[in-house]
Amino acid sequence: MTYRYITTPIYYVNDRPHMGHAYASIHADIMARYLRAAGHQVLLLTGADAHGEKIAKAAMQANEAPHAFAERHARSFEEAWRRLSVEPDLFVRTTASTHAEVVSACLTRLFEAGEIYLADYEGLYSIGQERFVTDKELVDGKLPEDKDPPVLRREPNYFFRMDAHRDWMRQLLLDTPDLIQPTQYRSEILKLLEEPIGDLSISRPVDRLDWGIPIPWDAGHVTYVWFDALLGYVSPLGYPGQPAFADYWPSVQHVIGKDILRTHTLFWLSMTHALGIAPYRRLHVSGHLLGSDGRKMSKSLGNGVDPLKAAETYGVDALRYTLIREISFGFDGIISNTVIEQRLNRDLADDLGNLASRALSMVTKYRDGCVPAPAAYEASEVAIIARATELPAMVLALVEEMKLGRAAGQIMEFVKQLNGYVASSAPWVLAKDSKASDRLDTVLYTLLEALYSVSNLLSPVMPGKMNELRSLLGVSAEPRWNSPWGHGVKPGSVVREGILYPKRPSGIGDDV
Ligand code: MSP
Repeated sequence: MTYRYITTPIYYVNDRPHMGHAYASIHADIMARYLRAAGHQVLLLTGADAHGEKIAKAAMQANEAPHAFAERHARSFEEAWRRLSVEPDLFVRTTASTHAEVVSACLTRLFEAGEIYLADYEGLYSIGQERFVTDKELVDGKLPEDKDPPVLRREPNYFFRMDAHRDWMRQLLLDTPDLIQPTQYRSEILKLLEEPIGDLSISRPVDRLDWGIPIPWDAGHVTYVWFDALLGYVSPLGYPGQPAFADYWPSVQHVIGKDILRTHTLFWLSMTHALGIAPYRRLHVSGHLLGSDGRKMSKSLGNGVDPLKAAETYGVDALRYTLIREISFGFDGIISNTVIEQRLNRDLADDLGNLASRALSMVTKYRDGCVPAPAAYEASEVAIIARATELPAMVLALVEEMKLGRAAGQIMEFVKQLNGYVASSAPWVLAKDSKASDRLDTVLYTLLEALYSVSNLLSPVMPGKMNELRSLLGVSAEPRWNSPWGHGVKPGSVVREGILYPKRPSGIGDDV
């Protein structure tokens, strides 16, 4: 048994989750489900990042105490994950006392080791991104991802000696070419590491911000939100002493968006190095979702698609499928109602749904709904069996690289092959020929068993619909990975007809 640990970002809980959050969580959830299906012992972590100025400001605007405000939104994230079939094993709240204890202990250790010092800081601070920014990063006076320009700040801060870890980080990236994926992000960070990166301010004076974890040796400061949140990846495992940490941490893979690449490389790698925590195994970096206008999806632009509304309109599984299939992970791409509708109507209803409903209705019509036993296999069946047998390993190899869209693409190619098989074997012709009864049995059985394989292969992506498909096929609801050919549908058992993916008339979910 191997342990695998997968994390989503620990989201700021200043509002309801949006499509960008759903994008990262659904990718992490699908990877977790595939690895679990393949027999790994998996933990999926998500959580709520509750501290920092952003939350304090939003709570004030909502006229609510920050703790109650963050808790209310944390619950709306938990509810959203339920509705999007994202099933985390752990949900960290940075407000939890167990988390605060880990943060305090880490700070104390670093302070005692001389890794933290006090100094005056003057610089431009982005509240949107919760970090100091450099002039080089600004476009027209602000960060491209921010609404407001950064503000000038001068104050005493505790600093972590991040720059002292630069050479080590550089060497780590050079020695581990697959640490950060896709590779363009690794190159970006390697370039940054060629020059000094400075030290990291890790505290805020309480007279300006008191919403955070106190600096253990100085009541005048609270911990910087990123230093606190990143440790949320280790605190729920019982770092440092609990067995879960020892078991799961060596396999950790983080899933993040490209806007938090620097914090997950410069900040997090240096922090873990200073603390003697092994660096993560993989950082999977996504691009940005764009609205139908081609601009980054954002609330202020109003070009976003609400994930819960989309799940209600098109079905949660169609949304999950579209998110992994439409955009190559790591690149920017458009997600709009039209895009989801097309994936639903074309890939899911026309290709997969149609295959299932044709197979099930032919078994109903020609065999009274009973699964026939196959007779002799011919070349076309041998090709299908070979494909069904090799797909699980191919799919898993792509999943390990977070190429979920390509994995789903391979499975949908198999569905196309099966649709071609229906056309070429023409069961409706065989049904008219009393001497072709064995042949018809073989074709119908092959279709049902291949659909069973498809349901197992796609179950991590579309758990609800694939359960439904297995139930129509008369097989127990639990998916089985790597089920050998011939061990799925049972000759003599009964199938039911049904429509898996009702088609949606085009244009209903118009993008605005
Ligand atoms: N709290 C920090 C993460 C701390 S992890 C220790 C944070 N939270 S966030 O809620 O602002 O963002 C979380 C994730 O949402 C990021 O990975 C970000 O890339 C992602 N997205 C936000 N908008 C997005 C798009 N339009 N498209 C894709 N993902 C985007 O940052």
